[in-house]
Amino acid sequence: MKNIKVIGVFSFFFLFLGCNHHKPQVLIAGHPDEIDISSTHYAQGKHFAIATQGVQTSDVAKTIIEQGGNIVDAAVAVSFAISVERPQSTGIGGGGFMLIHLAKENKSYAVDFRERAPFQAYKDMYLDKNGDVIEGKSWTGIHSVAVPGLIAGLFEIHEKFGKLPWPAVVAPAITLAKQGVVVTDHLSESITAKQDELLKYPLAKQRFFTSDGKALPKKSILQQPELAQTLEAIAKHGKDGFYKGWVAQATVAQSQKLGGMLTHKDLTSYEVQWRTPVKGQFEGQTILSMPPPSSGGIHVVQILKAAQPFLHKEKGAMDPDNIHYTALAMQHAFADRAKYLGDSDHVEVPMQGLLDPAYISDIQKRIKSGQTPAMQVSHIDPFTFESNDTTHFSMIDAEGNAIASTQTINGRMGSGVIVDQAGYLLNNEMDDFSAQPGTPNAFRLVSGEANAVAPGKRPLSSMSPTLVLRDGKPFLSLGAAGGPTIITQVTQALLHVIDERMGIQDALAAPRLHHQWRPDVVRCEKTMPADIVALLQAKGHTLEMSDHLGVSQGVQFDPVTGRFTAAHDPRIPGLAAGR
Ligand code: GLY
Repeated sequence: MKNIKVIGVFSFFFLFLGCNHHKPQVLIAGHPDEIDISSTHYAQGKHFAIATQGVQTSDVAKTIIEQGGNIVDAAVAVSFAISVERPQSTGIGGGGFMLIHLAKENKSYAVDFRERAPFQAYKDMYLDKNGDVIEGKSWTGIHSVAVPGLIAGLFEIHEKFGKLPWPAVVAPAITLAKQGVVVTDHLSESITAKQDELLKYPLAKQRFFTSDGKALPKKSILQQPELAQTLEAIAKHGKDGFYKGWVAQATVAQSQKLGGMLTHKDLTSYEVQWRTPVKGQFEGQTILSMPPPSSGGIHVVQILKAAQPFLHKEKGAMDPDNIHYTALAMQHAFADRAKYLGDSDHVEVPMQGLLDPAYISDIQKRIKSGQTPAMQVSHIDPFTFESNDTTHFSMIDAEGNAIASTQTINGRMGSGVIVDQAGYLLNNEMDDFSAQPGTPNAFRLVSGEANAVAPGKRPLSSMSPTLVLRDGKPFLSLGAAGGPTIITQVTQALLHVIDERMGIQDALAAPRLHHQWRPDVVRCEKTMPADIVALLQAKGHTLEMSDHLGVSQGVQFDPVTGRFTAAHDPRIPGLAAGR
């Protein structure tokens, strides 16, 4: 397996099979970054292991642990670092969720630092006078911006559980912002994709483009000195360094200049929510995941449970029947998502009901009888935008602590609005609301009244940071990026690891499928074997082939060796690390 050049991820997947305990040396030819899988995508550790989407970021975790920090210090430092290294996916202008399991207390926390709508936001703010959705208004520019929650979340998490001083966990990100990060293909492409908006702001023009107005090319260095100053204010003043003081002044001034809604009250009154994780038993293991305002936890568990009796684990992941029934369970879950899910602080979400055995058995009956879920929708948008934004990292340590965290500014480069002087990008999370019930958003997701815009409300998310406990101890930490495919990526990885006993790196490499009810298509990665594609079509599915569906990271504990295996998705660059 040494330095084998493999054309295409499909062949790569098969080379990877059976390599659970070896460190494969594989280069993906033709991949824009010609990744050396051995040094980046797979690592083992006796003390801890981590997988992130940031090559420089995973090293930050190691440094923090070496400095005597605990897993929470490392997770907070990683969150800051990845926001500098992947400004296209996450940032201090965004938000996210973190699942934390602490061995000492034998307790798990679901921390919600999701962005929320400004107080001036209102239900029909994305509709014109005829009641039609104004294209792009919730996606680009200042009107797409929700109140950032990342800094409040990281600060509270660290205040509660961190060991190192706060400035120490912000410091590595300050260094990265000053010294610069290496521009990846994805960052360069993301800048190009959002250039029309970015070029409106002199600071974005200065930082993200070359002097002749082109997006920074791959392998160039992105330095963010203004962001470094903002991070220094946060290091010095804690969350007040962001929600008050000169950074807040700059944020509100930028919003006002552009006719946006952000006020000082929006910033100072932002609240982190500590929630109870969604819990489900599956094959004797406890799945813990994110409750509303994420739809992730409920639907990961719902899909697993609804599909369970139809799956023949002995036939393996590539069995057409297994794939068919998994797709149907996804379809039913996403129909429920559209109807029932929203921010549970604002609307009633039937959390228990959706996971009740009687309700799951009803879904199974509907699947068996070939019924497909129906709900009136105004139209299905043929919009084919594919997004791999958002970022996830997973960590487990030898003390029995585990963290899974997914963070985002939503679309690539968020709203495209950079805050003058403060040098950070604002999110476009308002697009995760239902601008108009039944009308798909940028992810072609349909949602309903439960997810309508309201002041102070959090938009519905698909982010699904997930922990699996076996005998009460962390066995798996898992999560993904990629809009609604996050839910189906996490579900499939769980099925592969728990049901089919794959190692985490094989589970993440396996070809993926995705069904989100509307549009009524099964999306398949092109690596899906052709005979299976044909069999799925024969079963009546409309298939849409994708280059790849999302990006996942995971860490798995092996009770036999006592080691942790960290795996980063082989589809794109990132870094798995361990010690
Ligand atoms: N912004 C993507 C999500 O939260 O699902």
